[in-house]
Parts: sequence; C-alpha cells; structure tokens
Amino acid sequence: MKKYDPKVTPWQVAEQDFPKDGALAEKFKFLLRYAILAPSGHNTQPWKFKLQPDGVFIYADYTGRLPVVDPDDRELVISIGAAIMNLRVAAAHFGYACAVQHQPKANTPELLASARLSESSQTDTELKKLFPAIVQRHTNRIAYEVRSLAEGELKRLQKLTTGQKAAIRIVTDKTIQTSIAELVSQGDHIQMSDPTFRQELASWVRSNWALRGDGIAAYGFGIPGIISWMGPWFMRTFDLGKPQAKKDYQFAKEAAALIIVHGEDTKESLLEAGEMFERFVLTSTSMGLQYAFLNQPVEVRDLRTRLRTILGLADLPQLLFRIGHAEPQKRAMPRRPLNAVLIEDGNPNNQKYDLNINMIKNIIFRRI
Ligand SMILES: Cc1cc2nc3c(=O)[nH]c(=O)nc-3n(C[C@H](O)[C@H](O)[C@H](O)COP(=O)(O)O)c2cc1C
Repeated sequence: MKKYDPKVTPWQVAEQDFPKDGALAEKFKFLLRYAILAPSGHNTQPWKFKLQPDGVFIYADYTGRLPVVDPDDRELVISIGAAIMNLRVAAAHFGYACAVQHQPKANTPELLASARLSESSQTDTELKKLFPAIVQRHTNRIAYEVRSLAEGELKRLQKLTTGQKAAIRIVTDKTIQTSIAELVSQGDHIQMSDPTFRQELASWVRSNWALRGDGIAAYGFGIPGIISWMGPWFMRTFDLGKPQAKKDYQFAKEAAALIIVHGEDTKESLLEAGEMFERFVLTSTSMGLQYAFLNQPVEVRDLRTRLRTILGLADLPQLLFRIGHAEPQKRAMPRRPLNAVLIEDGNPNNQKYDLNINMIKNIIFRRI
C-alpha cells in the first residue's frame, strides 16, 4: 500500500471508489472523506465523527482549540459547520438525503450535530453541482486581479446570502471596502504585535516538507523552498504587522468583493454560518473565483464592534473574506486520515489523540 501523504492522499479521493455494494457504514465513511476536506482555522480540523446505524454524529474536538485567536471557539464551531456542508454535498452527489440537526443533545457539549442519511433518488440538485468543487477549493492568499465581479457572478452569489440564523453580506462599494480595509490593517498591527498570537500561529505553521496531517504549510503564505523551514521561527520572532497590514489593506480595498458572514454567537448560528460560508466558497470555486480570509476585524473585540457599525448589522460579524479572479491555488493543505477523526470503539487513534500535543499547547497559551 502507498504511504499516506497528508497533502496528497486525502485529496485523491475518487468517486468511482464509492462502495456501492458495501455496508451502510462503509458508505457513510466514504462520504466523510469529503467532509474532512473542509477548511478550518489554522487547519486544526477540530472535528470528530461517529458512525450511527442511520447516519453520523458530528463532534467538536476541543484539543484543536486556538485559545488566543479564537478564545470562544467561534471559528472552531464554524469550521465544523463547513465540514457538515461538505457532507451534505457529498451525500447529495451519491444519492443520499441528509437531514442535519444542530445540537441534537444539549447535555453532551462535544456533540454539535447529527446527520441522518437515507437513500434518495431526489437529492438537492444545487448541492450536487458543488461536488467537484470540494477537491478544487483551496484558500488562496495571493494578490488577485483588480477586476469587478460580472453581474451574473454577483447575482449567483446573492442567492446564497439568506439563512435562518446566519446571513451573508456582499460588499462591492469601494467606500465601505476602504473603511473595512482600515480595520483589517489595524487588526494586523494589533494581532502581530502580540507575542502570544504569533506563538500560536507559528505553532501551526509547517515547513513545506512536513508530514504532519494538520497546520498550514508555509507555501500557503507564499514562503518557498528551503526558507519554509524557518517559517515558524520567523513568525514567532518578528512582528510582521507593518508589511502584513500594508498588503492586507490593499487586498481589502481592491477586492472584487468583500464577504461578511454574520449571525449570533450561539452554537446553532455558528454552525449555520459555517455551512453558509462553505456553500458560498464551493459555489465561487465552481465559478472559477478565488477567496482568502481577512478575519482580523472579527477576531479583535473592539474592531468587531466597529465592523458591525460600518455594516449596520443587527447581529455580529463572524467571518470576513475577499473574493476575486486570480490564478487558482493548486497546492493543497494537509489533512489527517479519516481514521484519526473517527470515533470507533477500540480505535487506538482516539486515545492517542486525547493526549496529543495540542492539549499541552492549549495549557501553555491559555489566557486566564
Ligand atoms: C473559520 C475559519 C477561519 C479562518 N481564518 C483564517 C484567517 O484568519 N487567515 C487565514 O489566512 N486563513 C484563515 N482560514 C483558512 C485556513 O487557514 C485554511 O482553511 C486551512 O489552512 C486549510 O487550508 P485550505 O482551506 O486551503 O484547505 C480560516 C478558515 C476557517 C474555516
């Protein structure tokens, strides 16, 4: 058997390998191979799954917490929402209706959702269309063309903006973009001057050759070749706020559009925000658009209030990203093998996982 390469193997999932004649559990497991390709903050992949006779339970894995940048686990829960959307899309593609219930049992805090899967010949056609985009979607942090979205592109994306407990705002007004760009650059200065922020980020940045199944390979930040070995040290040691702020200011101001996902800070709203975000970026990927985050004003408390005011939101901004036209990012980020995030009786990975290095990091970096 070929060696598992975390940057390649999980992305090579082939639909013809779907176990058509296999047991239900095998089919559900196959669908989860698409769920784990979802994006997550610092690529922590803070999810776990447990197979059920009629579907899967979806759990938060709090060992993947980011106490500095995400002290309330907002982005952790949003990431799980993104994984749920991938599961919905894969289920629709392979002929399964997928009924998701957020927070099925309030007395089990890690259990965030359940997905009931049943064979169906009439699955959601709009979701089905997004299936190829699951493996094509990558966060793309390069500079984009300074070019507006076509009317048709904007119209298609506008259809994805209304949810029940969350919503999406598309900003193309340059005056508002400039005000938001100001906040993004202030956010960069604030975050990068904080050694605990840099330390946490650096602890998830990997060299381009690392074989770990999580974290951000330095090429994701445009750090090439041999220099990537120094990436984590560099990030930890130097306050790069000034150049980062300058770059991000321009990115935000010139973006074809800035996208704000908003809702309340409740688990149900955050899960929906994550689902809506992932549907939005899968759709934009299928349209040939690129995206990258500018979350700084959502992550710094004071700036979040100011962003909310600029947008006149009744609820709270949860995610901020730019979209536009650019060369696609072809290099994928690593993923852990499905087995490592599957809760199975007697799966040794789970015990190992409970005592992993992230837990130790959390203790060190936790702010009291
Ligand atoms: C909730 C959430 C928050 C994120 N925040 C940021 C961010 O602030 N800055 C950034 O560059 N990337 C951010 N990312 C992108 C992740 O780093 C990225 O998804 C992860 O490294 C996996 O890479 P991929 O998206 O290319 O698969 C975020 C992703 C999610 C889902």
